[in-house]
Amino acid sequence: MSEEKQTTLEINDSNKGIIYNNEKNNEKKGKRTLKDYEQDMGERGIYNTKNRLNNLTGREWNFFLNSVMETDFAQNHEEFELWKYLQDSVIKTRYPSSGKESYGHNLRKIHPSPKPPQLMRDIIAFFTKSGGWILDPFMGVGGTLIGASLLPDRNAVGIEIEEKYIEVFKETCARNGLKQQTTFCADSRKILEIDDLKNKTFDLILTDPPYANMLSRKRTGGDRKDKGAFTSDERDLGNITYDKFMPELGGIIKDNTSLLKNKGYLVIFCKDMQPTKENHNLLHADIINEICKIPYIYFKGYKIWYDKTINLYPYGYPFSYVSNQLHQFILIFRKEI
Ligand SMILES: C[S@@+](CC[C@H](N)C(=O)[O-])C[C@H]1O[C@@H](n2cnc3c(N)ncnc32)[C@H](O)[C@@H]1O
Repeated sequence: MSEEKQTTLEINDSNKGIIYNNEKNNEKKGKRTLKDYEQDMGERGIYNTKNRLNNLTGREWNFFLNSVMETDFAQNHEEFELWKYLQDSVIKTRYPSSGKESYGHNLRKIHPSPKPPQLMRDIIAFFTKSGGWILDPFMGVGGTLIGASLLPDRNAVGIEIEEKYIEVFKETCARNGLKQQTTFCADSRKILEIDDLKNKTFDLILTDPPYANMLSRKRTGGDRKDKGAFTSDERDLGNITYDKFMPELGGIIKDNTSLLKNKGYLVIFCKDMQPTKENHNLLHADIINEICKIPYIYFKGYKIWYDKTINLYPYGYPFSYVSNQLHQFILIFRKEI
């Protein structure tokens, strides 16, 4: 482990390549598009002579936009494999989206953002013992609940405002021979009014709330597809603006954590939004500040989940830097009375 070798993308900064298309002809016709400025740089990909920022090709540009930089300081692959488990605060995954190992992804994909059950399983395995109870107040199509069913002897309760997502969860369990967990079709603001829950104690709350009206906002760059909201229900936290969202989420988490045992953990997924001139949109920091207003709940740190199945888009190319936010934060809190 003596000599360090860093493996990153090697960039040859000289841009002498084959010029594509007939720039002059198109110029005469006054019809020039970005494509008319492309140069073939061989293995490096295509360089655009209109690039005002750097000498990178489109492919190299795209590589840099990934919000997670992967570098390998190990001498060889075996060393890297050994180190990665010792050092990683980043969980990198590429779960299958078809076949048995996808745990009904073909059904669950009617939801705009289903979580991979294996990821939830691994989090539950760390934060609970067998016999443990897990609560998800925003269960969607049940990533958390299926994760619990993949472990021996775990019991999970999910709350979801949209009945059809609960039906999909039940169907997924039935088709995959998984334990059916307990579900309630309700507004999680009213959790303390659910008779079966008000005297229950949970070992872990693991959840992935909506992030205000982020899904229904217009997207930037190449990914212009509007993913749409989770529901059209006005009680849906995904249908309110960011300023209203924070106190609402804080209130829900406060009621939910009243059912969490002392020394139990609260684990929340979130993803930052693109910064604007008006707002840095560091959602994870805002959520930490909001949740730490709840008595006895303390922030303990985060892990980063990097979903390698998400596509990179060449946002901003070839003019300016616009990040691809491919990672999500897994925020970890503990109740300490
Ligand atoms: C990000 S999704 C959760 C996805 C989930 N982790 C999964 O694997 O499917 C958030 C969910 O919260 C639900 N939701 C929004 N507001 C709610 C509320 N007030 N009470 C209960 N569920 C709500 C939405 O319908 C949506 O399905």
